[in-house]
Amino acid sequence: MSSNQVWQSDHYDRKLGFVSELGKDVVRLLNPVKDEHILDLGCGTGDLAYEINQAGAHVTGMDFSKEMIGEARRKYPQIPFFVGDGEYFTVDSKYDAVFSNAALHWMKKPRAVIAGVWNHLKPGGRFVAEFGGKGNVETIVQAIGEVLREDFDTDADKLNPWYFPSIAEYSALLEQQGFRVAYAAHFDRPTQIQDHEQGLHHWLNGFAGHFFIALTQAQRQAACEKIAVKARNELFRDGSWYADYKRLRVMAIKPG
Ligand code: BEZ
Repeated sequence: MSSNQVWQSDHYDRKLGFVSELGKDVVRLLNPVKDEHILDLGCGTGDLAYEINQAGAHVTGMDFSKEMIGEARRKYPQIPFFVGDGEYFTVDSKYDAVFSNAALHWMKKPRAVIAGVWNHLKPGGRFVAEFGGKGNVETIVQAIGEVLREDFDTDADKLNPWYFPSIAEYSALLEQQGFRVAYAAHFDRPTQIQDHEQGLHHWLNGFAGHFFIALTQAQRQAACEKIAVKARNELFRDGSWYADYKRLRVMAIKPG
């Protein structure tokens, strides 16, 4: 997981709350059962760990961001949360399931993540995850790339923090680890961002900080405005911005 991203848990909850809302579907695929032990990998501020907890499972949340974990603990004191890196984590427990929503695309070492998940699952355990798949937010990425090249002589590819694999690539990695891929889907999910005209700015502020790391605040503001102009035709309709999400959703089983 990348360390350059500054996570603001209040902005995440107030302006980007769709992440947890849409993740409820992934919890349905997980289908947590009472008394199961489940790890939520990249739990953010804990809303989906809470959903899993409500099903009677013993859920533990892990996130790379201390900020996010602090907020998760404040919101859900009954759930254990800890700071950990999905690419290098070791805990003593073995889980019935590892769950992850909208987190794995921040981890650019997928083999290490998959090995970690494998090592922490009991035989017969399941890995249920959704994250950005190939082509995810490509209109936004393209607009960022153009603006950074045109105005700042910067190669955005070198700053890109995200991993968006194809269904074939990710299924192959899971199988190479020994998983049986029971389910995999790659689908479009244009995602409405709240606050009308301001929506894309919220998204860029919340998620795309890596690209603007060398810019002043004023340059960053100007860059975001130009990105919005470039992306508007594709992503703005009926008074709202829609991020061009393409999700990869998987369920993989560790043989018993
Ligand atoms: C996503 O959920 O697809 C996503 C979120 C933040 C940055 C990039 C992608």
